[in-house]
Amino acid sequence: MNTITRLEIELFTSTSKPLKLNNPLLLASGTCGYAVELDNFTDLQAPGAFISKGTTLAPREGNPQPRIAETGNGMLNAIGLENIGVDALIKEKAPIWHKSGITVIVNIAGSTVDEYYELAARLDGVSGVAGIEVNISCPNVQAGGLEFGLKPETASAVTAAVRKATSLPVIVKLSPGSGCTADIAQAVTSAGADAITLINTFKGMAIDIHKRKPLLGNITGGLSGPALKPIALSMVYEVAGIVDIPLIACGGISTAQDAIEFIMAGASAFQVGTAFMIDPSVPSRIISDLDNFFVEQDIEHVDEIKGCAQVK
Ligand SMILES: Cc1cc2nc3c(=O)[nH]c(=O)nc-3n(C[C@H](O)[C@H](O)[C@H](O)COP(=O)(O)O)c2cc1C
Repeated sequence: MNTITRLEIELFTSTSKPLKLNNPLLLASGTCGYAVELDNFTDLQAPGAFISKGTTLAPREGNPQPRIAETGNGMLNAIGLENIGVDALIKEKAPIWHKSGITVIVNIAGSTVDEYYELAARLDGVSGVAGIEVNISCPNVQAGGLEFGLKPETASAVTAAVRKATSLPVIVKLSPGSGCTADIAQAVTSAGADAITLINTFKGMAIDIHKRKPLLGNITGGLSGPALKPIALSMVYEVAGIVDIPLIACGGISTAQDAIEFIMAGASAFQVGTAFMIDPSVPSRIISDLDNFFVEQDIEHVDEIKGCAQVK
C-alpha cells in the first residue's frame, strides 16, 4: 500500500460533501496565514489542508502590541483576530487557492449569530474554499468568539445558522475553557456540525516584572504549544466516546507520536499550529514519520487505529 492510500482520509459528513484530504494533517488557524505567502518556507503540498486566519465580516487591526509571549512549554498569543475581512479573502486569496490546488478551510468569527450566518453565506460556493471552521472559542476578542462557545445553547445557535447558510463542510472549533465540552460537542453535533475541532487555546497571562505590569497588550492571551497537549488529548478522548462525527485534534502536536496519541484517542485528523511557527518543516516530518510508523506496525490505514485506546 502506498503512502497516499494509507494516510488519505475522507471526513464523512451527513449534511455536506465529504472532505477528501491527502493526509490527516491540517495547519491550524492563525499559524499559517492565508497559506499562499508560505510558498518559500514550506512545501504547500505537504499538509492535507490549511485553515485560514480567523476571518470576520469587516477587516480587523487586532489587539495592541505586544501580542505574543513565550512561556514554559508553549506560548501566549493575543492577536485579536487581525484579518483582511471576508470580501478581500474571497477576492484576493480564494482564486489563488483554487489555482494552486491546495485545500483551504476558512476559519470564521462573528460577534453575533447573524454575522456568522452572513460569513458562511458569503463563502458558500466560492471556488477555492473547501470548508468552514467556526471559531466560537477565541479568548482574545471583546465581543463574540469565546462567549458563543461557553454554553450549549449559544454554540448550537451559531452552528445551526452556519449550517443553514452553506452546503460546505462545517467544522466547529471548541474551547477548552467551557467546563462542559461534552455537552457543547453534543449540541453542535445536533445542530448540524460535520466535524469538531478540539481545542482552541486556553486563556493565560504573563507579567513583565521590570515594568511591573502584564506582558501582553491585551493583558491575557491564549496558551498554545506542548503545554496544551494533555488537556486537548483528554478532551478528544472524552468527546470521541460521545459524538459520532469526526474529531479534529488540535493542541501541542509537534511530532508523529503526538498525532498518533490523538488518533488512538479517537481523532480522525489533527492540526499543527505552534510547532509549525517554530519550524516550517514539521508537517513533512510528521507525515513521513507517521507513514514509517504505519509500515513498521503493519497498519494499512489511519482509521485502523482510530479510537483504539478508548477503554470501554
Ligand atoms: C498566533 C496564533 C494565532 C491564532 N489565531 C487563531 C484564529 O484566528 N482562529 C482560531 O480559531 N484559532 C487561532 N489560534 C489557535 C490555533 O489555531 C490552535 O487552536 C492553538 O494554537 C492550539 O494548537 P497548537 O498548540 O498546535 O498551536 C491561533 C494560535 C496562535 C498561536
